Amino acid sequence: MSTKTLNKVILREPRMEDGGQIWSLVKDTGVLDLNSSYSYLMLCEFFKETCVVAEQDGEVVGFISAYLLPTNQDTIFVWQVGVAASQRRKGLAGQMLEELLQRKACDKVRYLATTISPSNRPSQSLFQALARNMNTECEVTEGFPKELFPGGGHESEMMYQIGPFKRKRI
Ligand SMILES: CC(C)(COP(=O)(O)OP(=O)(O)OC[C@H]1O[C@@H](n2cnc3c(N)ncnc32)[C@H](O)[C@@H]1OP(=O)(O)O)[C@@H](O)C(=O)NCCC(=O)NCCS
Repeated sequence: MSTKTLNKVILREPRMEDGGQIWSLVKDTGVLDLNSSYSYLMLCEFFKETCVVAEQDGEVVGFISAYLLPTNQDTIFVWQVGVAASQRRKGLAGQMLEELLQRKACDKVRYLATTISPSNRPSQSLFQALARNMNTECEVTEGFPKELFPGGGHESEMMYQIGPFKRKRI
């Protein structure tokens, strides 16, 4: 398992015991769709190789959930990225993405895909910065139109596809 420190923040694979804190972190963002606590336990257990936790003094202060597309293993789909309010604008989300792309599980990855709502400027900036830093393209297409979300309270999700890229060697 790869573990790296960054100004006292440790970046690592999640463990099942992190599931509750991850659920709280996602809830506290107030922006991300809060999934069931079960789903976060499942991610920690079955998708840990492609998920990232940022830990500071025993607290989870950042999280990325992601998985390799089952039909296209050269693409990593980033599902959720969350950073605790106290830790934002310090480069932590960017560092977590870099940590993810360095993992052995991402050996064959040449594209990163994610969806972002039109109002989420911080997230747009995060992924545009990633594309810039990796010297590659960022293509934006319609992802999940708002009509497909029941209840009428969800924005559309635009699909961002970043790549092709080669991983940076650290
Ligand atoms: C989006 C989020 C994860 C960014 O985390 P972060 O650790 O603050 O981001 P970073 O410090 O690594 O910044 C990465 C890039 O995004 C930019 N950025 C981050 N927050 C920004 C903001 N509020 N407004 C504009 N740009 C922003 C940074 O300037 C940086 O770009 P640069 O390299 O060109 O300077 C964080 O704001 C968050 O958790 N938001 C709530 C949840 C969410 O919206 N998640 C994303 C959807 S899945």
